[in-house]
Amino acid sequence: MKIIAAPLQGYTEAPWRRFHAEVYGSGVDTYCAPFVRAEHGLIRPRDLRDTTSPTPEATAQIICRDAGEFRLLADALTRESITRIDLNLGCPFPPQVKHGRGAGLAADPERLAGVLRAMADYPGVCFSAKMRLDHWQINLPLLENSPVRSLTVHARLHTQQYSGDCRLEEFAAIAEATRLPLTYNGNILSPADFNLIADRFPFLEGIMIGRGLLARPSLAAEIKDARQWSAADRMDAIFRLHDKLLAHFETTLCGPAQILSKIKPYWDYLEPEIGHKSAKQIRKSTTLPAYCAALRAIPTISGAEMRKIDGF
Ligand SMILES: Cc1cc2nc3c(=O)[nH]c(=O)nc-3n(C[C@H](O)[C@H](O)[C@H](O)COP(=O)(O)O)c2cc1C
Repeated sequence: MKIIAAPLQGYTEAPWRRFHAEVYGSGVDTYCAPFVRAEHGLIRPRDLRDTTSPTPEATAQIICRDAGEFRLLADALTRESITRIDLNLGCPFPPQVKHGRGAGLAADPERLAGVLRAMADYPGVCFSAKMRLDHWQINLPLLENSPVRSLTVHARLHTQQYSGDCRLEEFAAIAEATRLPLTYNGNILSPADFNLIADRFPFLEGIMIGRGLLARPSLAAEIKDARQWSAADRMDAIFRLHDKLLAHFETTLCGPAQILSKIKPYWDYLEPEIGHKSAKQIRKSTTLPAYCAALRAIPTISGAEMRKIDGF
């Protein structure tokens, strides 16, 4: 069963995808880039650059309101030789939904059908879609009779945003109803979570992991190896990934404020590994020297050594 790294705006941009693959090897089979969108009828060059930067086994993602926006984005991506494009049908962020994108497109079958028809004009592209549970009974037949070749389902409603239980019964109903290769997504935080889904749905094509990979970047590698990494090995790899990102930002960004604003989010989900005190110190740092001091204060073997991870 494949492990796919979920798209996470603000976290899994090209440098993270590239350096994560370098540090953690082949744990992740495919990385999905965060969505690109149209702004005032154009695609932002830096979004396009990010999506098309070489990452091992990467899929681009489009969020769009209608067939017109879809074509604009698909044209830009295919001009850059992108051959795998995912359609975002689940983003719950109100500014996107309000404009009919993400979960807003999933709520409008007519506009969705228009987008799916437009896919036929890109025969060289392998399309997939990522959706939530909303309106699946209506949308599944549309997707199945379109160029979409596989489906990822985040097993929540868009009103749940990113919290609350994943609804496995409804996911099971979709699995039963679809003939498209299916990937599960939602709240995989440990090998035990992964095994639970893999055992219950052994026919899945893949399992997509989002925040679990930010909180424990070695998670996919640990699952693939069926071996828990020691706290020391995990911290060592977390710092190696960090150092590659920091070095990259230092050479590509202008000035300490920009560098700090890009590197600090790396730690947003890592509190379970580095402890509350260190996480707070990092959050509070407003200069690069204060940030580096906060990093130096991270206990090398943190409380994580004590923390048992289920599943092995
Ligand atoms: C900060 C953040 C940014 C996200 N950005 C995207 C995105 O660009 N495209 C997308 O399809 N989903 C996006 N998602 C949703 C995730 O890909 C994923 O579906 C969701 O987090 C559930 O998976 P998880 O519980 O493994 O994190 C985002 C989620 C978060 C928390």
